[in-house]
Amino acid sequence: MKIDTSKVDEVIDSFSGDLSQLIGILQDIQANFNYLPREALVRVSERLEIPLSQVFGVATFFKAFSLTPRGRHQINVCLGTACHVRGGARILEKLERDLSVEAGGTTDDRRFTLESVRCLGCCSLGPVVVIDEDTYGRLNQEKVSKLVEHYE
Ligand code: FES
Repeated sequence: MKIDTSKVDEVIDSFSGDLSQLIGILQDIQANFNYLPREALVRVSERLEIPLSQVFGVATFFKAFSLTPRGRHQINVCLGTACHVRGGARILEKLERDLSVEAGGTTDDRRFTLESVRCLGCCSLGPVVVIDEDTYGRLNQEKVSKLVEHYE
């Protein structure tokens, strides 16, 4: 996909092209595009005059970075032990069906990226789903279906 590299340039300029700020640069690029497009990484490598492999090395090392397109909203369904015994897997299945996407994938309209995670640290609320920054507990299939409708 063709991207607007002027946005990448803007980000790099905002960091004064400082190589030591590579992680911050990649974070801001990801904030702009919702992921790190290959073309953007090539541009970073050219502008900072570092090998593309070095840029990819950083981009793949940190779990927070994604090299594939992400949805506007991130849904994390907990499948840790406490949530699992309370029906976490059924919550995930329901979302997979509702959104027509498998765990680990992004919906065609780029609205959601759906992932399963291990223990979000609030087991007493299980089963737990986190959408972006919001945590929802004691969910069932019906509740979770209604929940995602609020996210455009
Ligand atoms: S197991 Fe789900 S929050 Fe801990």
